[in-house]
Amino acid sequence: MTVETVNDTAVRQTARESARKHGALREELIPILNEINRKIGYLPSAALEEVAAELQVAKSQVFSVATFYQMLSTVETGRHVILFCESAPCHVSGGREVWRRLRDELKLEPGQTSPDKKWTLVTVSCLGVCGVGPVLVVDDDMYGNVTPEMIPDILARYN
Ligand code: FES
Repeated sequence: MTVETVNDTAVRQTARESARKHGALREELIPILNEINRKIGYLPSAALEEVAAELQVAKSQVFSVATFYQMLSTVETGRHVILFCESAPCHVSGGREVWRRLRDELKLEPGQTSPDKKWTLVTVSCLGVCGVGPVLVVDDDMYGNVTPEMIPDILARYN
């Protein structure tokens, strides 16, 4: 028998409300997950179970969508998520130096969240805007032609 925590109950309620708000329609799965991700900060297992039940689809299907899209996360993230493009075109146009500065400033390795839960640092492959590399994305903001000197200013915008 699994023990349901108060937190799980709140998560399930949030998930249920979002699913119902979108009519509990299967074709609304991505907007539903996106909304829950925004509200809770990530997609806990209990939320995925609840969405699967509401939409009457297999949890594995919900899980595969939740893990496919970069904008969604099944692990708890910081309040701000930084996506750093590590593909070759960005790398050779100065990305390596930007990456070093970013890691130094945040004191994080890829995939880590800061102890104060402010930042999560994620490396991704090409974001499709190689012409303005090096590129990084903080939440919904994309920054192009980034230099190491710009990193402190960019991070300071999220204080
Ligand atoms: Fe970085 Fe394409 S290689 S955006």
